This record gives sequence, structure tokens and C-alpha cells, in this order.
Amino acid sequence: MRHTTFRQLEIFEAIARMGSFTRASEELHLTQPTVSMQMKKLTDIVGVPLVEQVGKKVLLTEDGRELAQASRDIFAILDRYTMSVAQRRGLEKGRLKLMAITTASYFAPRLLGEFSKLHPGIELSLRVTNKEQVLASMADNLDDLYLLGTPPEEIDVVATPIMDNPIVVLTAPDHPLAGQQGLTLARLAEEPWIMREAGSGTRKAIERLFHDHGLDIRPRLELGSNEAIKQAILAGLGISALSCHVLALHQPGQFAVLDSEGFPIQRHWYAVYPAGRQISVVARAFLDYLLDQRGGSVCSPEGGQDCCGAECERQGGAALVTPVTPVAPRPAQPARKG
Ligand code: PGA
Repeated sequence: MRHTTFRQLEIFEAIARMGSFTRASEELHLTQPTVSMQMKKLTDIVGVPLVEQVGKKVLLTEDGRELAQASRDIFAILDRYTMSVAQRRGLEKGRLKLMAITTASYFAPRLLGEFSKLHPGIELSLRVTNKEQVLASMADNLDDLYLLGTPPEEIDVVATPIMDNPIVVLTAPDHPLAGQQGLTLARLAEEPWIMREAGSGTRKAIERLFHDHGLDIRPRLELGSNEAIKQAILAGLGISALSCHVLALHQPGQFAVLDSEGFPIQRHWYAVYPAGRQISVVARAFLDYLLDQRGGSVCSPEGGQDCCGAECERQGGAALVTPVTPVAPRPAQPARKG
């Protein structure tokens, strides 16, 4: 194994994680022949098969699984070393690996961009993905921090609320309910709804609200992206409720935010990491930065407009964009989830 290079282990780790030579080569910005050649060299050095091809999928052999874990351990040790050097040199250098659940992509890049201006030497990576991959990444210790709307129940985590995540009911501006005051949930339940996919935190929050009022909504359409839902709303296919943050780059007036009983559903965004994990100096600095930002206009995209525009103002928008109140169920400071 002494002739193995870190590059080969890095390539192998990416293949092991993604189950695909093509995706590994894309992530590492390498050509596929380079990835295949390095894998062949690694396999020759180890002397046993590390992967097997089943159809289009690349599966790990038992030896492969062990090497994938060993590679992750090696890179974790090197990351810790890099971090301790960074600690000695302040925050001049270092790396921050962030993973965000789909809807967090509307604000995470902006926060990272601002943090990066304060610490230009820090190398940043942000992956936006679904809950399943978040859990897999946490289990394998792949990222430093996770931005989520719902801290996972499956893993013991430290979850810190970092900002409000109000869920508002959206329609096209010319919808008959737009502008009506004091709508009831029963009235909303009569409308055709466009819902996010099963498993989405936004969807669960909406279903829970209606369920708690003894009501059911029947989705007319189920779409896996906030952007697709916004298009469907504007096409007059129905109404939906989404995080206020998805309006970040829209002009006020493009959507109507309904004034209804039960809405906005007040949720929070959390910065999460596995309990018991020593987070890096850089991750700690980013978390502190997020906590400092809580008093600011967290929805603000560019130019200081709040994310919901004039409609949210009408609906009591001040309450939608005020700093998160550090109340139960999560404390303001990191605490073990439990
Ligand atoms: P999403 O958002 O799963 O609906 O994208 C995260 C959450 O609000 O829990």
C-alpha cells in the first residue's frame, strides 16, 4: 500500500461514495480515462478487486468497503491537521464543507459568500441535496456542518437555530383568494394543492397543520422542486405553501401571500452536526458568524429587500423576518438533541 497516492485514494473514495466512475470524475474534474487508470493502479497495488460493476452501478467488494473507510479516516486526520495549522494561523487558511437541504439553497450561498469575504483564505464547498444524502453524509462524517429545516431524529445531533423559516401560502396574484382577509384552513383545503415530494420538511409541516385541524389536503400535483412549484402556481394549477425564502429573488407582486388561519407556519433553520463530533475551528467560526447574523435581515437577498416583498408586509411581514426567538424546542446555543 505504500506506493498508493493520496490522489488514488481520493478518487476511490469519490467512486465509493457516489457509486459511479462518471460522477466521481465530474466531482474531481478529471477525465474518465484518468479515473479508470488510477483505479486500476490502486487495484494492482492492493492486489484484490475493490469494486464490481453490476449493470451501470459500481458496487464495493468487502475489501473495497474497508479501504473506503480507511480512506475517509485518512482524509479526516489530514483535515484535522489542516485545521490545527489553521488554528495556529488564525482563520487565514482552512476548509469548510457544508451540506444544505434543498430549500436552504436559497440563502446558504449568500451566507457563505459573506463569510468568505471575511475569511478569503478559507476553501469552501457547499452541496445541496435531499434528506437521505444528508443522513448518509452525517453517518460517514463527510461534511462539517449541515443546514436543515428539521434536525434528523435518526442520528444524535447538535442543532442550533440560526434563522426563521416561515412557510407562507402562495397563489398567483390574480387568484380569487388573493387579497381576502382571514381565510380559514377549511377554505384552503378546498383548493387544489401543489405539494413538494414526500419526505420534504416543508410538506410535512403543511400536512401536520391541516391534520391538527382535522383536515386533509389532496395534492393535485406533486413536484420535487420549489422552482417547479412556483411555475405551477403562476400557471394557475393550484396553490401551495413554501418557505418564505423561495421568494428571495422575486419582485414584490409576482406572487400573492394569502392571509390565512394557521399561516405562516413558524419554523426555523438549523445548523447541525453530529453529537460528539469536535467541529473544526473554521466550522465553529462559521457557526458563530451565523449566530451573529440572526439579528439581521436574514431573508434579505440583494439590496436589503426582505424576501417576501410587499405581500409579506401585508401579512405582518415584520414577524416573518424578525430574528429567531431562542425558545423551545431548541436552545439558542448548541445543545445535544434529545
Ligand atoms: P425541504 O426543506 O425538505 O422542504 O426542502 C427543509 C425543511 O424545511 O425541513
